[in-house]
Amino acid sequence: MSNKFLIKSAVIPVAGIGTRFLPITRSVPKVLLPLINRPIIEYAVREIVSCGISDIIFVMGRNMNIVKEYFDEKSDLLKYLKDSNNFEKIKEQEEISKLANIDVVYQDKALGLGHAILQSKSKIKSEYFLVVLPDDLIFNDINAVKQILEVHNKLGGTCVGLKEVQEEEISNKGIVEGKLIKKNIYSLSNMVEKPEIVNAPSNLSIIGRYILNKKIFELLEKQSPSALGEIQITDSIKNSMKFENVYGKLIEGEHFDVGNPKGMLEASIYLTNQNK
Ligand code: UTP
Repeated sequence: MSNKFLIKSAVIPVAGIGTRFLPITRSVPKVLLPLINRPIIEYAVREIVSCGISDIIFVMGRNMNIVKEYFDEKSDLLKYLKDSNNFEKIKEQEEISKLANIDVVYQDKALGLGHAILQSKSKIKSEYFLVVLPDDLIFNDINAVKQILEVHNKLGGTCVGLKEVQEEEISNKGIVEGKLIKKNIYSLSNMVEKPEIVNAPSNLSIIGRYILNKKIFELLEKQSPSALGEIQITDSIKNSMKFENVYGKLIEGEHFDVGNPKGMLEASIYLTNQNK
């Protein structure tokens, strides 16, 4: 796919505590939990590389090297598969380790998504970069990253993925205010993290796909904690609206929040039915 603005880097923050998945997240990072037999991080990596972006930075906790290791070449495994002539499996296993150039930065303390993204500052190679949250798993022929890249390629600027949510979900989400300018595309004028329902500007929530301007790092460096005492990316994107057009793309597709057990189960059932 054409990538006119030459976005070269994608960031996948995975350093969260994974409270909703305790107790398994005591020792297994949430992004290694599987849909059937494939960890959710692989879906995020594949979505990004399918759009022509191969430099991917994981923002991890210090105890999460196992996440990067999943993508390493497994020579013993390959030898075993070769010795047993299991050519189909060899192909897939080799493909996984060649999917992307994966680099790692660390977030020593889970101080929020904005703080996690800030840790990737020195690794970003282009004016704009992509952020993908693996918890938001979206199945669609044109994947969610492609959808926001298409908006960015047409209009420039920052772009976030959006989803319509039920009233009871509003106070747990980043909610936007904006004007519909084209089918499924909004020009945004405000956003607020976890608003009370009475203060919510809409029922449009940000989901985990972002194209951000590198200038966001200057704002993140000055950003105070807000909702949940965390440094929120939403606050910095809102502040960037002074110098930056910010668009929202209503993401088309089947969306699952696999950051909680119910969403993970629903996504697994969906996938099983698709593969029947
Ligand atoms: P979540 O809000 O889902 O937090 O983070 P979490 O810790 O993963 O899960 P819960 O809420 O405790 O159950 C959204 C994304 O941002 C990353 C997470 O790893 C996840 O991919 N994140 C969040 C960080 O990398 N660092 C943070 O400090 C917070």
